[in-house]
Amino acid sequence: MKADLSQSVQGNLQTSDRLRIEHLLIQSTLSQSDKGRDAIAGLTSATKSLPPRYFYDDRGSELFEQICELSEYYPTRTEAGILHQYAGELAQMTGPCELVELGSGSSTKTRLLLDAYNELGYPLRYLPIDVSAGILESSARQLLADYPSLQVHGLVSTYEQALAKLQPTQLPSRMIFFLGSTLGNLNPQACDVFFSQITAALEEGEYFLLGIDLQKPKHLLNAAYNDSQGVTAEFNLNMLNHLNWRFEGNFDPSLFEHWAFYNEQLHQIEMHLKSQKKHSVYLRSLDLTVNFEADETILTEISRKFDLDTMQQYLQTQGLKPLKIWTDPNQWFGLVLSQRQPLISIS
Ligand code: AVI
Repeated sequence: MKADLSQSVQGNLQTSDRLRIEHLLIQSTLSQSDKGRDAIAGLTSATKSLPPRYFYDDRGSELFEQICELSEYYPTRTEAGILHQYAGELAQMTGPCELVELGSGSSTKTRLLLDAYNELGYPLRYLPIDVSAGILESSARQLLADYPSLQVHGLVSTYEQALAKLQPTQLPSRMIFFLGSTLGNLNPQACDVFFSQITAALEEGEYFLLGIDLQKPKHLLNAAYNDSQGVTAEFNLNMLNHLNWRFEGNFDPSLFEHWAFYNEQLHQIEMHLKSQKKHSVYLRSLDLTVNFEADETILTEISRKFDLDTMQQYLQTQGLKPLKIWTDPNQWFGLVLSQRQPLISIS
């Protein structure tokens, strides 16, 4: 019993030695978002909208995990299948490198990459970046227990802050990866800003791995965002509970309906909350009254669906050279590995 205890204490110490977590969410960022300026702007504009980040309170994160398991929601398992099949080839292409994950969450798919780098005998150094300290730390501890040579340096942070703070890596290279087609939740302008941050964070020759959901027949897309069990509807409606909690509001979710459809012109799913009748809502801590007409909607999310040729051209314009694309047999999802190009200096 005593021996077991000392062994486990020693094990824990070793794990802690391999774990460093930095909290970069500076006060100004927190207070700005807590003041809900983005919510006020969205709810007072002519066409109402709310930033998708308000999906993710504890319940919302739980519901998102459930969405990923749904039979209609193909992106998660399709991307994992591609990684499962091609992570070895990918690791061989990049050689030993530091793995930096944006929006790491539960780090489930990360394991497929770690396995590949591990099998090639490469050093394992992982930098997960996530705004949620709880999930980042628990996933990191689980990974450390499963990969004895792994070193984790977690950054509790927004992408922007973390990318600006990355120090040059000690390993021969670095790969930033952004999976799950989260890029699709950014509009084109936000996407440009995001890529300028990525390219600024990468040294010449370093890598960027991007997972994107691809354009496909609309019945498949509509089903993925209108699942038969109603989990996506609950996820969407839960945003109102989150706002009630955060801003002392009195939204009644039963007065709204989940509405999601594929916009074929813009190649994007649009997810809304539709008011069932004319009514008003008050958010006390924002001192904001919001009036709704019957059938008026709040846009809560766009989820863009991409085309591989257009994405390759776009990456080139951002100073990233596409090296290889992997897809699944249905071509539903794509993984694109690109490399930071030399900066052209005009003298
Ligand atoms: C996180 N993001 C990539 C998901 C998506 O598919 O756009 C969020 C989601 N919304 C409804 N279902 C899933």
